[in-house]
Amino acid sequence: RHLAVKVQNVVLQPRASTVPPSTSSSSIVNSWTEWQPLKEIIVGRCEMSCMMKTEPAFKAKLKEGHALSSSFGRRAAEAIEDGERELAEFINVLEGKFGVVCRRPEVIDWNMPIKTPDFEVPNGNTSSMPRDVLLTVGNEIVEATMSLRGRFFEYRCYRSLLNEYFERDPDFKWTSAPKPSMNDSMYRSDYLTSSMDRTELVSKRIYCTNETEPIWDAADIMRFGKDMFVLNSFTTNRKGYEWLKRHFNQRGLRVHFVDFPDDLAPMHIDTNFVPLNGNTIMLNPKRPPRPWLMRLLQENGWKTIVGTSNGLPVHPLSHCSEWLSCNVLSIDEKHVAVEAQETKMHELLSKNGFEPVLVPLRSIAQFGGAFHCCTADVRREGDLKSYFP
Ligand code: NVA
Repeated sequence: RHLAVKVQNVVLQPRASTVPPSTSSSSIVNSWTEWQPLKEIIVGRCEMSCMMKTEPAFKAKLKEGHALSSSFGRRAAEAIEDGERELAEFINVLEGKFGVVCRRPEVIDWNMPIKTPDFEVPNGNTSSMPRDVLLTVGNEIVEATMSLRGRFFEYRCYRSLLNEYFERDPDFKWTSAPKPSMNDSMYRSDYLTSSMDRTELVSKRIYCTNETEPIWDAADIMRFGKDMFVLNSFTTNRKGYEWLKRHFNQRGLRVHFVDFPDDLAPMHIDTNFVPLNGNTIMLNPKRPPRPWLMRLLQENGWKTIVGTSNGLPVHPLSHCSEWLSCNVLSIDEKHVAVEAQETKMHELLSKNGFEPVLVPLRSIAQFGGAFHCCTADVRREGDLKSYFP
């Protein structure tokens, strides 16, 4: 009781040095959807990024013949430079053309051992993929549990930013989901040696992670105002979905459990189920939604368009597929940031009334994603609404 009174009496003073001049409003964190007009966003950074060493849930996520299993530690300087150059250009576009405030995480050296009472791995990962770690829902940012040992402490690079928002925005709700132990019991060690092929395992929702403890990556979630869709995947288990459901049901939101066919490694929803604005969603032609989900979209007046890809080679150190073409970022209901070489996607968007905003962003694939992955929403204009009335 004493402690509570004390805490209430503390007056948190904004630190002038951390307050960017362009945002003086007290309501900083507020974003309910993937498409309302973007005002402030976190853009990741590549400096000090590493490749993770093979660990239980990691092996199964690699593409066939993937080089990563034997190499780990600091990424090549050239890769980091290329990634940073691309992100800088993306920021120029967001700030220069659309007036979006872009914030960056702290530079953290990921090339240091991660050790907890349950495991030890030689290094961490990256600050370049904030979408995997931070889930913004209205005035709340939830730090995800994560599911890989090498990503256990990835929230650390966002902490000073979140702390700043906490100081400046009296309505900001800052939540950290329970960290899983990530001990051996959480992973299926025999996953790859199973006689069933991966597609069959995935269709039965048998993944390399099990149901021992709740796990979820924030990139397995798509936000549609009152409704939220959670992908059951290698990185989000049913218990993780259950945690999200209980948490957000209490805030009046509906939380849906979804899965998609996948012949690679089901991981992160943002190349499969991509709302572009309040009435158009882009679907992955190779990973169609189950019939109930198609019906739900149709019954609620959603226009579905089928995503496309130029099929350009994805960087060999990337875990991702050619469908990164669909990992776009809606800047508002009309403008969509899209990779400069993905010409088929430009045509598709234009044909459907969108204005594609072309930005070169291919090198960032090796760090784990594209436009949606390398950002995390802070503020979009607009209130909470139902798009599934
Ligand atoms: N696992 C997805 C990438 C998500 C950003 C894919 O490779 O298509």
